[in-house]
Amino acid sequence: MSAAYPALRLRRTRASAWSRRLHAETLLTPADLIWPLFVTEGEDTPVRQLPGVTRWTLPSLVERVREARDLGIPVVALFPNTPQALRSDDGKEAYNPDNLMCRAIRAIKEAVPDIGVLTDVALDPYTSHGHDGIVDAAGYVLNDVTAQALVRQARVQAAAGSDIIAPSDMMDGRIGIIRAALEADGHHNVQIMAYAAKYASAFYGPFRDAVGSRGLLKGDKKTYQMDPANHEEALREVALDLAEGADSVMVKPGLPYLDIVAKVKAEFRVPVFAYQVSGEYAMIEAAVAAGAGDRDALVLETLLAFKRAGASGVLTYHAVHAARLLQP
Ligand code: PBG
Repeated sequence: MSAAYPALRLRRTRASAWSRRLHAETLLTPADLIWPLFVTEGEDTPVRQLPGVTRWTLPSLVERVREARDLGIPVVALFPNTPQALRSDDGKEAYNPDNLMCRAIRAIKEAVPDIGVLTDVALDPYTSHGHDGIVDAAGYVLNDVTAQALVRQARVQAAAGSDIIAPSDMMDGRIGIIRAALEADGHHNVQIMAYAAKYASAFYGPFRDAVGSRGLLKGDKKTYQMDPANHEEALREVALDLAEGADSVMVKPGLPYLDIVAKVKAEFRVPVFAYQVSGEYAMIEAAVAAGAGDRDALVLETLLAFKRAGASGVLTYHAVHAARLLQP
């Protein structure tokens, strides 16, 4: 390189702001952001472990979604906080067509029809034990019986108006049977974004607090979520979900797994999304609170890194904050 270009000084193009803009290889815009929102009954309540994040009642939720739409955010992701009384061992509230999730979808679609709504498919916000599926006597999550419940859950969400069904449960074979059910119901344009490479991670703690499953979870999710040691397995997970009909795939958590984002993108050339999860948000906020970093800079740098790794977009609790910073 240096022999062929003797006069090359890499600093030259960095010497002014206009030139750095001109040479930027990656662009972050509000259109790259998906905003996860927590929904609740009763009143708006802050999530203790996620400073700045609130569980919203439906009227407030609709206002937040309108704000997101006005800032150019294309999609919101919904997560319900289900009252204890509606939780059960089989999580059947998940497929009640009038559950909080379905009411939230309908409220948004009615008030803000020009934003995409992504809905999580998994049983953990509805089970009394906090697992994503139905467990046997030993507490082991059963794949096939859970997958059937997930199909019912996806069906009621699509019927309520969900645009993107996002199974986050990690059961084998669920994408194919959900796709078949959506087709049978006539939801040909409802997309599936598969949480394909979802790791058994220590970064989900604050989320479990937000949806109210924190104290409930017995054991861990290592029998169905991926081992952080593995990367080839992530490619097998993605291959299966794509073969079964996923329109896009997700890698989760985010920053510690950018290698997976890059590998999936290189291998499959499909839309890949990354989830900067609750623990990652909490780490940034803790750094800011400790005076150890600048929030705006940390947020924009981390989000840009996802784009550079090959992500089409990022689910982030900082979406609205970032979108404000990114207004033209
Ligand atoms: C549930 C689900 C989880 C998250 C999204 N969907 C938690 C888990 O698997 O325990 C985590 C998101 C976050 O931490 O922000 N299936």
